[in-house]
Amino acid sequence: MNKTWWKESVIYQIYPRSFKDSNGDGIGDLKGITQKLDYLKELGINVIWLSPIYKSPNDDNGYDISNYQDIMTEFGTMEDFDQLLQKAHDCGIKIIMDLVVNHTSNEHHWFKESRKSKDNKYRDYYIWKSGVNLQPPNNWESSFNGSAWEYDESTNMYFLHLFSKKQPDLNWENDTVRNEIYKMMKWWLNKGIDGFRMDVINLISKDQMYPDGEIRKGHSLGNFAPYSFNGPRINEFLKEMNKEVLSKYDIVTVGETPKVNIQEAMNYVDEKRNELNMVFQFELMGLGNGNHGKWSNAPFKLTDIKKIMTKWQKGLEDGGWNSLFWNNHDQPRVVSRFGNDKEYWEQSAKMLATCLHMMQGTPFIYQGEEIGMTNVAFKSIEDYRDIETINAYKEQVNIKEKNPLEMMAAINARGRDNARTPVQWDESENAGFTTGKPWIKVNPNYKQINVKSQLEEPNSIFNYYKQLIDIRSKNQIVVYGIYNLILEDNEELYAYTRTLGEEKLLIICNFVDRISKFNLPQSIKYSSQKLIIGNYKISNGVNIKSIEMKPYEARVYLLKC
Ligand code: GLC
Ligand code: CA
Repeated sequence: MNKTWWKESVIYQIYPRSFKDSNGDGIGDLKGITQKLDYLKELGINVIWLSPIYKSPNDDNGYDISNYQDIMTEFGTMEDFDQLLQKAHDCGIKIIMDLVVNHTSNEHHWFKESRKSKDNKYRDYYIWKSGVNLQPPNNWESSFNGSAWEYDESTNMYFLHLFSKKQPDLNWENDTVRNEIYKMMKWWLNKGIDGFRMDVINLISKDQMYPDGEIRKGHSLGNFAPYSFNGPRINEFLKEMNKEVLSKYDIVTVGETPKVNIQEAMNYVDEKRNELNMVFQFELMGLGNGNHGKWSNAPFKLTDIKKIMTKWQKGLEDGGWNSLFWNNHDQPRVVSRFGNDKEYWEQSAKMLATCLHMMQGTPFIYQGEEIGMTNVAFKSIEDYRDIETINAYKEQVNIKEKNPLEMMAAINARGRDNARTPVQWDESENAGFTTGKPWIKVNPNYKQINVKSQLEEPNSIFNYYKQLIDIRSKNQIVVYGIYNLILEDNEELYAYTRTLGEEKLLIICNFVDRISKFNLPQSIKYSSQKLIIGNYKISNGVNIKSIEMKPYEARVYLLKC
């Protein structure tokens, strides 16, 4: 297995709008991030992933870019960015940027030109089709509800947008588009950034037949997924991007790739193929989705989590590499989702961190996760800001007449704004995020859950994350050890080992709010044991053949053979 710096790193995701506001306008900004670099250094992370900071009309909070080489007005200036990059590098922290090139904003000058006429120089930068009998070219439903095609009067044709109407898809079949994108990527890399997280990158190659999609239960339009994800030319495009751009720099890349199986993911990240370094796959994030996707519930068990995790751990072990994450800016907070954010808030947050950070792969921490931030559960839809949430509410409640209380419960459980409430810095008004009025309300629990109190408390969740990061940085086995699941069928304990040479790590995590008995499988032999980390006070000498694991307890032992 090749050893590289990015396999040995921990990456911290910043959603700039919600991180720290430096000028009182209620919106997080670049200067705010620079102010908090010391905090991130204290935590010990190696790399920051910045969600989009480019010029944008903010239909989808920056995932709709109107100028790739300029900074969003609310976030500051290019000088602010240069200063952030410089200061981060001075602290030994790298920065990777979000690369959003499946689509642009409709306010990008390429699109403004493109829509003008059929023979405009930029026409083929986007995907234009004629309607059929006054209807859109096919039945695809956009990810944010409604048709994925928008009619444009000026030329009497439709353009494709797999996300909002203000996010037209770029036409990757066009060489000029690809070359423009590569040029822009090099411009950022030449500035000194350290890599890219690539937004829905496996959507860029579409089936050129544009066939109708299946109309699934609960939908009135067709599913674009089989004709857009992992499309016919995706690997060719990524190889080209790698050759033209990525291979020329010492950087890290992680592609956001929903709906990939192991083989497809392996094709993206296989070291021999020269495409990407890692992908984000969402199999775990889809757990609990019912008939209406994430807005409806289906029960799941701990063994489902274990099966998914183990499949990916083993599946990419040979020549690939996993990204490890419990949440991000599109997902609810992990302690609310897989832990217990009430009486076992602290224990379960630490247990979940242990379970993930001891796996093979590069861990990602989403801002606020390290202090145990929870879901928000706003009472009223008026308090939500996310376009996906608002559109889904309108469709489910206003059109499909779903019970509004049920829809609010679904949004409170799974909506993206759970991740986007401001980072809770201290117990002062607005959690110290802003001196103004925050663009989205602060979670009311900020008096109990905030950075200041977490820094003061030696046994805090923050200090536990810090310890986990430190352990990884000092122990190659945490990075490179081979993962093996034990106690496969146990519905309460998630236990596994990591093996490197003569050493083994034994990780035991209790996922329930009661005592659960751990019995060490006979096959695991050892001559010495050492407790490396745990979330309860325990003595080192205990017999690990049989352990009563307390509610949400986690322990990691280093065993020598
Ligand atoms: C990705 C982003 C999400 C965004 C979408 C469209 O899934 O993570 O936040 O809405 O792409 O760019
Ligand atoms: Ca601001």
